[in-house]
Amino acid sequence: MKVLVVGGGGREHAIVWKISQSPLVDKIYCAPGNGGIQELAECVNIGVMDFERLTEFAQEKGIDLTIVGPDDPLAAGIVDAFEEKGLRVFGPRKDAAIIEGSKVFSKNLMKKYNIPTAAYEVFDKSQEAIAHLKDVSYPIVIKAEGLALGKGVIIAQDYNEAVQAIDNIMEQKVFGAAGNRVVIEEFLTGQEVSVLAFTDGYTVVPMVSAQDHKRAYDNDEGPNTGGMGTFSPSRIYTPEIAAYCMENIFKPTVRTMREEGRMFKGILYFGLIITKDGVKVLEYNARFGDPEAQVVLPRLKTDLVEICNAVIDERLSDIDITWEDNAAVCVIMASGGYPQKYKTGYTIHGIKDAQALEGIIVFHAGTKCVEGETVTAGGRVLGVTAIGSDLDDAIKKAYEGVQKISFTDMHYRKDIGRK
Ligand code: AMP
Ligand code: GLY
Repeated sequence: MKVLVVGGGGREHAIVWKISQSPLVDKIYCAPGNGGIQELAECVNIGVMDFERLTEFAQEKGIDLTIVGPDDPLAAGIVDAFEEKGLRVFGPRKDAAIIEGSKVFSKNLMKKYNIPTAAYEVFDKSQEAIAHLKDVSYPIVIKAEGLALGKGVIIAQDYNEAVQAIDNIMEQKVFGAAGNRVVIEEFLTGQEVSVLAFTDGYTVVPMVSAQDHKRAYDNDEGPNTGGMGTFSPSRIYTPEIAAYCMENIFKPTVRTMREEGRMFKGILYFGLIITKDGVKVLEYNARFGDPEAQVVLPRLKTDLVEICNAVIDERLSDIDITWEDNAAVCVIMASGGYPQKYKTGYTIHGIKDAQALEGIIVFHAGTKCVEGETVTAGGRVLGVTAIGSDLDDAIKKAYEGVQKISFTDMHYRKDIGRK
């Protein structure tokens, strides 16, 4: 089979790495890919939102399967565009990807079907949102409705901060049209767990659990980022909690999406928070997490291409999906300054030395190859992933890998996996 992977970050490197092991696969293309992906796949310089050129490319090359990584093209209907041309593609259609693309949609879905989530109100006028802020307790959570590069959620500590957030989102439009409506919701406390699941619209098969470290600095300080590191499994996601989630969250979500005429096929990512009043859904994503994919996929024993085919053909219940009984940790090495301003173009040293260590995989996120050298090309640069017998072993190995790598102004957290 010829497979095309759409995207060019660490998540897509993990997907390409996993499918490169499949006996079903003869050739992998990746659009646009990155400096690490190009060792396993032929990178093609087409942007993830250029559906016309992507579908043309897939037709021209006779691609048998396309796997879409990022959220933006899914929300904009990349799967529909491929299907219209008769191409086989893995991911939710636009009408199902809305579960991530619109927080108003997902909150209303949860309310309608009694799926546990934070209490909330929706506003499309800033004056009404601000009036509501007089009646709430603080901190309060304010969310732009649409996709905002992971920055659309503001936790306001007091009334003034909340008013400022509403003004930024709804009047200044800092997230563009994503801020036409806002969700104002109850602030929940507890540990967050990410559970990704394969679903063909009928059957739902959860993957092993993971936890993400979203803040930029150690001890969960500093600004929110796309994710500074992950580990799998979570220590707090017990079999009892998993069983509760299956019956009260995972199955009902998949069933209700189908009943709403928005059958979800692909990866459904449940962003959960374990509060003292039980598990609640913080968010849904319509794709693999980044960097969750980097710790979950290395633990997957089953062929990912076989799973994608089963999802597309709606026969997920027929296959057995199995996992390694081990642990994985991914430490993100970022550019100095990320998630704010940072410089790129610095030479990265030591990737090969890190990779030579047992149990280490270096996934590239923001890198490119210039005259045979790998240089930094983004905020999150590398995801140094280690497989260990347990979390402590994986943490130790991951940091041994990190020690081998250097580039100017690099920044990483020292406490990944220690939650
Ligand atoms: P979301 O994009 O909805 O997952 O929000 C991003 C992050 O904001 C989450 O991972 C949480 O850390 C935080 N967050 C979102 N909603 C809430 C909430 N209701 N209470 C506390 N933290 C939240
Ligand atoms: N790591 C969080 C996400 O992919 O949304």
